[in-house]
Formats: sequence, C-alpha cells, structure tokens
Amino acid sequence: GAAQPVIVAIDGPSGTGKSSTSRAVAAQLGLSYLDTGAQYRAITWWMVTNGIDIEDPTAIAAVAGKPEILSGTDPAAPTITVDGTDVAGPIRTQEVTAKVSAVSAVPEVRARITELQRTLAASTEQGIVVEGRDIGTTVLPDADLKIFLTASPEARAARRSGELKGADVRSTREALIKRDAADSSRKTSPLAKADDAVEVDTTELTLAQVIECVVTLVEEKRAAK
Ligand code: DC
Repeated sequence: GAAQPVIVAIDGPSGTGKSSTSRAVAAQLGLSYLDTGAQYRAITWWMVTNGIDIEDPTAIAAVAGKPEILSGTDPAAPTITVDGTDVAGPIRTQEVTAKVSAVSAVPEVRARITELQRTLAASTEQGIVVEGRDIGTTVLPDADLKIFLTASPEARAARRSGELKGADVRSTREALIKRDAADSSRKTSPLAKADDAVEVDTTELTLAQVIECVVTLVEEKRAAK
C-alpha cells in the first residue's frame, strides 16, 4: 500500500543525469530528495575555506566533525547550508569540484556524512530519493529500489560542459574521467553498482525518458509493498 515510505537509491558517475532525474522523480511522486554529492561538496567547501590541507587526510579527519551540514530535502527547492551559511553556489566552483574526491575519500568524512544521510532517510514520511555514489551499496543497502545510471564518457562530458557554461568538452572530459577514477578506486565505499541495482544506460535516452523509466520502476515497487 501507499502508507509505507519508499526509499530509492540512485547511484552512478557524474554526467549521467543523476541529479536532474532524481529531483524530477521525487517531485513527480511526492517524495523527498537528497543530493549526497552536495553534502560532500559542502564539507569540502568548509575545509577549503578554513585552510585545511586537502593533501593531508589526517588533518581532514581531525576536523571532519566540526561543520554543521544541513540539507533541505524538498525537490522543488533543495537547500544546503554549512554552519547556517547557504553554500549552494560556492560548492559548484571548479576549486571545490577538483578537491571533493580527496576529501570524500577520508573514512571519517564518509562516516559523518553517511550518518546524516541515514538520519534523513529514516525521518521521511512518504519516502525519499537519495542520489550519490555509494547509496545502494553502503548508505541504504535495504533501499526498496536501487538504480545505477551509466552513460558513455562522451555523453557525460558533453552534458557536464553544457551545465558548466563556457567549459570546453575536452577539459571537462579529462577532469570528469579523473574524478570518476578517484571515486571508483578509493578504499572506503567506492562508486559501485549494487548487485541488486537496476542498471539504466542513459547514453541514447532523453532526460524525460530516463525520468519516465525510473518513475515506472518506483511505482511498481510501491504497488508491491
Ligand atoms: O555528484 P557530485 O558530482 O556533486 O559529487 C561530488 C563528489 O562527491 C564526487 O566526485 C564524489 C563524492 N561523492 C561520494 O563520494 N559519495 C556520494 N554518495 C556522493 C558524492
């Protein structure tokens, strides 16, 4: 029945349309929405702003518990604050993007952010769409539905450079491949497809088609609950 909250995990590398898809699916189905990449970006922004040496995992680990990170989970207007400051803009800079993989590889950072994610997921009434890299494998292994989005490197780079107005496709492609390699090879909960995830290759699909596909999968799960 519809009384039980539905928990949806959407993972995959960058440029697969993960955020746009997750947000639209949540809005369409009346669910909450959590962008976990924004949380890792927010803690990275705090480290950079406070002069923490990004090359030094011990220094990062020592202060991982300091910033208070709050995520607003309304898909119509998601928000992210650090110690009360709205950081939605600053977390999308090239500097933060270049440094987020190093910060998010630190186990103490992951433990901290994972706890925030689990608390938010446990507190929703209707359910939540949580998007990231390790949601289906580590954060919410009991999610009702796990989706793993993929796309060719060319399609992903083209989408990302479209988002970052002015950036050229080739340098975006190189930065993106480098970040995915780092995210996939780290020791603690790397980017990975869960065994029970449904893989959706978005290379040849429009955003509307991907959204429709995921909405259908969620509705099937909800009906079966
Ligand atoms: O989705 P995004 O590009 O905003 O994510 C930024 C970075 O955060 C990404 O390079 C890896 C990290 N990340 C992570 O390690 N685990 C997650 N669940 C989400 C993001």
